[in-house]
Amino acid sequence: MFSSTLVFALCFFSAVAAAPSSVSSLPGCSGLGANASNTLASFTLAALNTSLPNANSTGAPLVLGQAGAIDGATFEVLSTWATFPYNDWPTLSLVNGGLYGNSSYGNQAVSSGATNGTTVGFITTTPTPTPSQVFCIVPNKNSSGLPLLALNGHTDEFSLCSNGKGYQNNVAYNASGKSYYYDYTTCYPVVLQVVGTQ
Ligand SMILES: *[C@@H]1O[C@H](CO)[C@@H](O)[C@H](O)[C@H]1NC(C)=O
Ligand SMILES: *[C@@H]1O[C@H](CO)[C@@H](O)[C@H](O)[C@H]1NC(C)=O
Ligand SMILES: *[C@@H]1O[C@H](CO)[C@@H](O)[C@H](O)[C@H]1NC(C)=O
Ligand SMILES: *[C@@H]1O[C@H](CO)[C@@H](O)[C@H](O)[C@H]1NC(C)=O
Ligand SMILES: *[C@@H]1O[C@H](CO)[C@@H](O)[C@H](O)[C@H]1NC(C)=O
Ligand SMILES: *[C@@H]1O[C@H](CO)[C@@H](O)[C@H](O)[C@H]1NC(C)=O
Ligand SMILES: *[C@@H]1O[C@H](CO)[C@@H](O)[C@H](O)[C@H]1NC(C)=O
Repeated sequence: MFSSTLVFALCFFSAVAAAPSSVSSLPGCSGLGANASNTLASFTLAALNTSLPNANSTGAPLVLGQAGAIDGATFEVLSTWATFPYNDWPTLSLVNGGLYGNSSYGNQAVSSGATNGTTVGFITTTPTPTPSQVFCIVPNKNSSGLPLLALNGHTDEFSLCSNGKGYQNNVAYNASGKSYYYDYTTCYPVVLQVVGTQ
């Protein structure tokens, strides 16, 4: 009797605590609070381990790494610069919740976001496709940290995983078990810090 009342009370309070203090209706930022933003020009991303020691408080720089090609289009993923030492899209831009890689050659990469268990994907083709409006930038709860990128309303579903061929570490969303995209045994959780906002 007492314990079931306690369980009910705990559930009730955690539901209240999880409710955002103010609801954003911006595309990509739904439910992420009043200070969430879905538009920002010219930034980069860095992956910060959430469970393992980091080399520094910014994290490992990310770039758009190769993920194959078909006739007329190339595919990209978010990769660590350390494992993909090229940087053809030196800055990213967030426009109404859509994420773009901006290149100096004018060929923009556009992100389709990610579904559960896949890598965060981009495509570069002509004409430039419409992006998925699924990204948002939110303040870091740790006030000495940088703002965080959210995807599908979550900042805490990203991992860095080897592509399974051993040479490129890519960002996965809600990584799980068997995947064509990565070797799950190599994954560790990260947050994606937004660099270049101040
Ligand atoms: C938004 O930012 C302002 C100014 O820093 C702060 O006072 C407020 O509490 C923040 N609101 C939310 C919902 O985080
Ligand atoms: C907050 O962020 C700073 C800078 O990244 C880091 O040194 C510190 O350990 C973090 N604190 C917590 C409680 O995560
Ligand atoms: C942080 O460490 C990474 C290696 O983990 C390095 O590539 C990056 O340049 C460092 N950033 C800063 C600001 O020192
Ligand atoms: C995360 O921590 C592991 C183990 O310390 C290290 O090998 C890796 O480079 C770190 N990655 C980042 C993004 O800091
Ligand atoms: C990057 O691309 C977006 C989308 O087309 C555009 O709005 C933005 O101005 C570009 N930013 C830069 C720095 O070229
Ligand atoms: C991930 O799975 C959950 C549970 O099935 C679902 O609610 C959610 O929409 C899925 N996310 C994506 C991006 O497909
Ligand atoms: C992550 O994916 C699993 C299925 O693998 C799903 O049950 C879960 O709800 C997903 N989480 C989120 C936050 O979408």
